[in-house]
Amino acid sequence: MASPDGPLTPAQLSSFHRDGYLLLPSALSPSLVTSLLLETTRLLSTLDITTHPLTQFHAGDDNHVGDAYFLASATNISFFLEPSAFSPSTGHLLHPPHRAVNKIGHYLHALSPPFASLLPAGTPGNNVDVAGVARQLGFRDPRVLQSMAILKQPGIGGAVPAHQDSTFLYTDPPSAVGFWYALEDATRENGCLSFLPGSHLWKGVERRLVRREGGGTEMVGNEGGRFPRGGGGGVVPEGGEEDGGYVMGEVERGTLVLIHGNLLHKSERNTSGKGRVAYTFHLIEGEEEYDGRNWLQPPEEGFTKVYKD
Ligand code: FE2
Repeated sequence: MASPDGPLTPAQLSSFHRDGYLLLPSALSPSLVTSLLLETTRLLSTLDITTHPLTQFHAGDDNHVGDAYFLASATNISFFLEPSAFSPSTGHLLHPPHRAVNKIGHYLHALSPPFASLLPAGTPGNNVDVAGVARQLGFRDPRVLQSMAILKQPGIGGAVPAHQDSTFLYTDPPSAVGFWYALEDATRENGCLSFLPGSHLWKGVERRLVRREGGGTEMVGNEGGRFPRGGGGGVVPEGGEEDGGYVMGEVERGTLVLIHGNLLHKSERNTSGKGRVAYTFHLIEGEEEYDGRNWLQPPEEGFTKVYKD
């Protein structure tokens, strides 16, 4: 049962604060999941590979994400391609374009009506109110700053190394929280997320992705706050960031996973024959300082409000 204060029970809320993530099964109804998958398919059908700059998203790579196509994607719907979908010798695509995309982003929450429908309360089939969760997490003015459909393609979906989302979506102090919706079952075989529980309490944001003078992006040391207001204070466990402490987040379609921006998480390759489609967006605290050097800059209208005025 949700508490009178919002969608999360007190036990769920304390679990999130302790672990840095929370699984909420059946957050989306099967019919809403189906409509979001149909929208994903429709978006894929709009990809014209002949005019695409063949931008490839290299997760965890400092240098390849900085091209103009990537930077412009904050306010449009762009397609990023799986590196292993290309032949290393010829550079040609080895798969049909719709099977080579690994991300569609980063303005779905504004430009795609089905994905945008997850933000306001009362959308049929959306069982966890985003604004209600944000209030329970202490947001004063939550803003959605980016969103994407993530397609971990059968057989070629790449691994994502351990990272903290606030490295890429930085406010000073950090405030990002990810909302990650499974649109297909995420399993050990198809590269589900895994988490290092409690790492949000001891792992500060030490690096940030910023725009490089003269073009592109780069990772720099973080001279600002490393934990959210009132956060941190955890003790580094004996194993530190070692693999041994990670917990697999196998989830069924329709599950919402909340992810603290400081939490270390990762996912493995999809070696199975089954795809793994997810939709994710991030909130930041609009009242914290947003840095003009961040790779992602707000549209003219500002980042998308979650609370109604
Ligand atoms: Fe992430």
